[in-house]
Amino acid sequence: MRMYDIISKKRDGLELSEGEINYFVEGYTRENIPDYQASALLMAIFLRGMNKNETVKLTKAMMHSGEIVDLSAIKGIKVDKHSTGGVGDTTTLVLAPLVASCGVPIAKMSGRGLGHTGGTIDKLESIKGFKTEMSIADFVNNVNRYKIAVIGQTKDVAPADKKIYALRDVTATVDNISLIASSIMSKKLAAGSDAIVLDVKVGSGAFMKDINNAIELANEMVEIGHEMGRNTIALVTDMDQPLGFAIGNALEVKEAISTLKGEGPEDLTKLCIYLGAYMVLLGKKAKTFEEAKETIINKLKSGLAFEKFKEFIKIQGGDAEVIENTELLPKAQYVYNFIAEEDGYIEHMKADDIGNASMKLGAGRLDLKTKIDLSAGIVLKKKVGDTVEKNEVIAELHTNKQSKVSEVQDVLKKAIKISKNPAKRQKLIKAIVKSDGIKRL
Ligand code: URA
Ligand code: CA
Repeated sequence: MRMYDIISKKRDGLELSEGEINYFVEGYTRENIPDYQASALLMAIFLRGMNKNETVKLTKAMMHSGEIVDLSAIKGIKVDKHSTGGVGDTTTLVLAPLVASCGVPIAKMSGRGLGHTGGTIDKLESIKGFKTEMSIADFVNNVNRYKIAVIGQTKDVAPADKKIYALRDVTATVDNISLIASSIMSKKLAAGSDAIVLDVKVGSGAFMKDINNAIELANEMVEIGHEMGRNTIALVTDMDQPLGFAIGNALEVKEAISTLKGEGPEDLTKLCIYLGAYMVLLGKKAKTFEEAKETIINKLKSGLAFEKFKEFIKIQGGDAEVIENTELLPKAQYVYNFIAEEDGYIEHMKADDIGNASMKLGAGRLDLKTKIDLSAGIVLKKKVGDTVEKNEVIAELHTNKQSKVSEVQDVLKKAIKISKNPAKRQKLIKAIVKSDGIKRL
């Protein structure tokens, strides 16, 4: 087989065989295929597209390029959740203990934040003593005993995706639905869970800016999941403004705790109830969605979800006192107010710009080497559709970098639009995508 022939075949719009896809993925991972040929193939795929068969084969090849985590020693149906990334997306912190408290085993591998999107591992590290590194044996043990464990992504999961994604990033070939779907699903499938609930974000803070593209991406991932024998459901949800009020690591831990106590922001709470109910349903701890939703709401109301969070933090070495008293979380030295310059309604809060503003305050990183400030970030006091009066606080800026504040104020002035006319709130859950059909809401 020659890479030249594979490139020319895709250039001419023909379907690649399993052998050809495997040849490319294996060869590129082992560095037998140079970047220039891999780039040419990726661009041909980008321009010509891949059909469902090819997408599944690419996913399989990348999934098998490294370690497949063996979770078979965990009893019950392991359910994983994945979000395509957003701003202030506090859901995993809430969902993992919430769904575990319903008896569904949660064996979660999470990542760190990059750019304007945050990562669960960073957020959890703002709890003193909390450890995200453990052996796979301890990971399995903890899930069997406590129904929950969260660790950082190991380097050995889908190494082909890591290499190909880095190349796509510099060759303008990221934005292709088949490539995104296979990239995400190869990692999820290698992580070993039996069923997967996907949160596909759409809007200014998401990869997908357009609802139709987001639904198409959700549908491709659901189809891949089912082809690979994993029950998979996707929700397409709003990321046109940040989720909840808090953006930033310790600030989001605090928000997760209030949500687990039933006192969280309306949008975050609702999203966790829906995603959680689907996880409970796929984990077969309820017969219908309605029953699953009721179970989830009961765990929030009874305090059992919060108790599970506390237990989980303790097991992984974290200081449980911090959970009882969130004043003990890392705190920024300065808190500045961002205030309204006029009366009106909040018409739009551009999520990516607000995420970048939070990063400037210290909460995020541009590359994985940067150290982040766990105390920094933004707390919104208003959301889209709210009324606001002149001089009223729209957001608090938490930071240790006083020198960045005026720059961030300017960013927020452009990112947050106030109008004289009542502004419409976006629907939070826009579509539900299952293997037997797509329901737009
Ligand atoms: N996230 C991924 O993991 N891969 C993509 O291709 C896009 C987003
Ligand atoms: Ca949030």
